[in-house]
Amino acid sequence: MQRTELIEKINKLKKEKNAIVLAHTYQNIEIDEVADFSGDSLYLSQQAAKTDADVIVFAGVYFMAETAKILSPKKTVLLPNLNAGCAMADKINLEQLRAFKAQHKDIPVVCYVNSTAAVKSESDVCCTSANAINVVKSLNAKEVLFVPDQHLGSFVESQLDNVKVITYPGYCPVHHEITTKDIEEKKKLYPNAKVMVHPECPSDVVKMADFTGSTTGIIKTVKESNEKEFIIVTEKGVVDRLKRDCPDKKFILINEKAVCETMKLIHLEDILYTLENNKYEIHIDKEISQKAFLAINKMVMINA
Ligand code: 13P
Ligand code: SF4
Repeated sequence: MQRTELIEKINKLKKEKNAIVLAHTYQNIEIDEVADFSGDSLYLSQQAAKTDADVIVFAGVYFMAETAKILSPKKTVLLPNLNAGCAMADKINLEQLRAFKAQHKDIPVVCYVNSTAAVKSESDVCCTSANAINVVKSLNAKEVLFVPDQHLGSFVESQLDNVKVITYPGYCPVHHEITTKDIEEKKKLYPNAKVMVHPECPSDVVKMADFTGSTTGIIKTVKESNEKEFIIVTEKGVVDRLKRDCPDKKFILINEKAVCETMKLIHLEDILYTLENNKYEIHIDKEISQKAFLAINKMVMINA
């Protein structure tokens, strides 16, 4: 089927079903053509919480669709490909969280949204990369446990005075494998380029950044900047969107391996299939969902 025909069919079905499409910034860029909202995890969870649509098609990974379902339990939430998982979310399960909490008793748990509903359900509050600092600050605690991303947790600690952030040893493979050597090599080729880093990267990489922030934070900062060249130290989807939106600037992806393969499992054909067949619907255990809601909603209330 031709792309224009695909898009027409998707838009028609969206209207008929009162559906919206939410697309993460790491998604294949073609999805933006049918997306009602595109952006980072925080922005998309805010949209999921306030939409009037009956159906939410989540063009992202499993934990994102799960979060949307928890925020809007009465709505139908569809994930176009059930294999679209997140390697970071898989790094901690409920038993591992309980063992971590048992090692560090009576310390509040901050849970990065890149985690399962079950893990969220036994955490005090969620955060995304865009609001992690504010969320930790809001707790007014001397110590917090941070799961599952060690790097985001360390970044938060580096930005705050007098808070000890005890991190779980999880990570995102896409960001974890980026090294200072990668940045040095790109800096040699583009000495004037500004280095824009996602805080899921290791701390020695973050230290080389001119700016560190979530995907939306990076995009916004680049758009507002007078600089002309940027080394983008996160997933390829960010570079694709910046090239589209800022044709007068130059963007260099840190390395060719910075691709989240599971995000890229979703194509326009999958969105059409999803809307035609109501697949694949997200269901969450009621008790887990209600408990996880408290942690996610606390985050949505705190905001960025
Ligand atoms: P943000 O959307 O918070 O920038 O996070 C990036 C990411 O890894 C999403 O899975
Ligand atoms: Fe998960 Fe990393 Fe992919 Fe984000 S980029 S969805 S954290 S594997």
